[in-house]
Amino acid sequence: MSAGQHHALCGYSPNHQLNESPAYEIASLKLLKMKFLVYKAGIKPLIGIAMISAVVVLAQCKKDPPPAPLVCDLTDIPYSPTPYTIKKPDHFPQVPVPADNPMTAEGVELGRRLFYDPILSGDSTMSCSSCHLPQGSFTDNKAVSTGIDGIAGRRSSMSLLDIAYVTTRLFWDGRVKNLEEQALKPVEDPIELHTTWPEVVQKLKNHPDYPGYFRKAFGINSCEEITKELAAKAIAQFERILISSGMSKYDRFVKGEIDLEDEELRGKLMYFDEGAQFQLPDAQCFHCHGSVTLTGNNFFNNGLDSVGSFNDFVDKGLGEFTGNPSDNGKFRAPTLRNIAMSAPYMHDGRFQTLEEVMAQYNDNGTGFVNEDPFVQQIGFPVQGHYPGLTPSQTADIIAFLHTLTDTAFVNNPDVQNPFQ
Ligand code: HEC
Ligand code: HEC
Repeated sequence: MSAGQHHALCGYSPNHQLNESPAYEIASLKLLKMKFLVYKAGIKPLIGIAMISAVVVLAQCKKDPPPAPLVCDLTDIPYSPTPYTIKKPDHFPQVPVPADNPMTAEGVELGRRLFYDPILSGDSTMSCSSCHLPQGSFTDNKAVSTGIDGIAGRRSSMSLLDIAYVTTRLFWDGRVKNLEEQALKPVEDPIELHTTWPEVVQKLKNHPDYPGYFRKAFGINSCEEITKELAAKAIAQFERILISSGMSKYDRFVKGEIDLEDEELRGKLMYFDEGAQFQLPDAQCFHCHGSVTLTGNNFFNNGLDSVGSFNDFVDKGLGEFTGNPSDNGKFRAPTLRNIAMSAPYMHDGRFQTLEEVMAQYNDNGTGFVNEDPFVQQIGFPVQGHYPGLTPSQTADIIAFLHTLTDTAFVNNPDVQNPFQ
């Protein structure tokens, strides 16, 4: 009997949707499995024998000290990882991959399962994908995310599109340094997946399939070698394939394949401060949402909160992490790729539409001392003051933002839920 079969009969139930206690789950699943095997055999006289053997197997299982798996040795499963080349558009830079977590097809596949599998949550109801769904460009389209206990967090989920290019300071406040470290956080966050890593690792060890997947991805010899670090590495490998398809209208324009509509083009020129010769003002966007991925991965106060002092920011953002009060109110300027798909907007989801976002920028922000000067220089100056963009210029910017929509990315079969 292979490790997989043995686990399936005596170990942890692979159906994480069930909320029953593990003991109930195991017993009922075993009976179901036996019935299914008997049904498949289709030989009625054997049913009796099969039922008897089911009882025997069950009796044996009862003696097992749960939840430790009986067969943990994985060495008869071949380990020959296939190097994985991340697909990216030609005009994108090389995708950075850390030396200690090389990409393999097996690692990506394991990571994809872990990302979509509610086994990572305390009550088996939520996974990473609950808050990072493909159709929202890997956000949940909620103002703030809610975890397994129904408690609302204080921040909005972030798009994971092109996240591989963010190699320092992830999250709205920059508090984690890379994807491997980030992937460890949601599991133990009380308002996210709310469990502990020892519990998750135990569930993975006892699972019928995961020990084999870990073996194929990382060459471990025994299920006892499954660790949270390996799980995080696999999840990070999967996240690194969440790369733009290069098929958005904007990318096809950059590649010289299509023209933009006039309003989209005007929007693009203002976005990149390239419109002077066409009497178009600077919208300043690219200073903070620049480069190919349309984020400089830097932190700014873009003028959202009206405060009297550095201590008044409800969410201190970067300052909460650095401890430097002048960083209070600064947040990561996220990618604007697929922005039309990831409403509502900002770290707390305060804006429902791109029109509301633009109204904020056209107002020059709130003018607190650490607000970035670029936010105060949008549009043509009138006697040293910037009144923002006109309504038609604003519509042009929004038309341009819509050219960043990448439906080929959100529909890419490689990034979908493997359990559906
Ligand atoms: C309950 C909802 C929720 C769940 C579950 C969740 N996330 Fe998130 N995710 C968020 C929120 C909210 C943020 C922003 C948090 C912050 O800045 O404090 C975020 C941020 C991130 C970021 C940072 C993105 C960036 O641009 O810096 C990554 C990466 C990420 N999540 C991956 C994951 C992975 C992997 C899992 C599963 C292990 C997961 N998330 C589970 C809500 C969730
Ligand atoms: C000084 C830097 C800066 C400039 C200039 C700037 N932004 Fe931003 N932008 C930010 C920061 C920082 C955030 C995140 C703020 C937060 O959530 O607290 C942000 C957030 C956004 C968001 C919401 C993103 C999301 O995922 O929720 C949109 C949309 C946006 N900006 C569009 C623009 C456009 C369009 C322009 C030009 C008119 C522009 N920005 C100019 C820094 C800037």
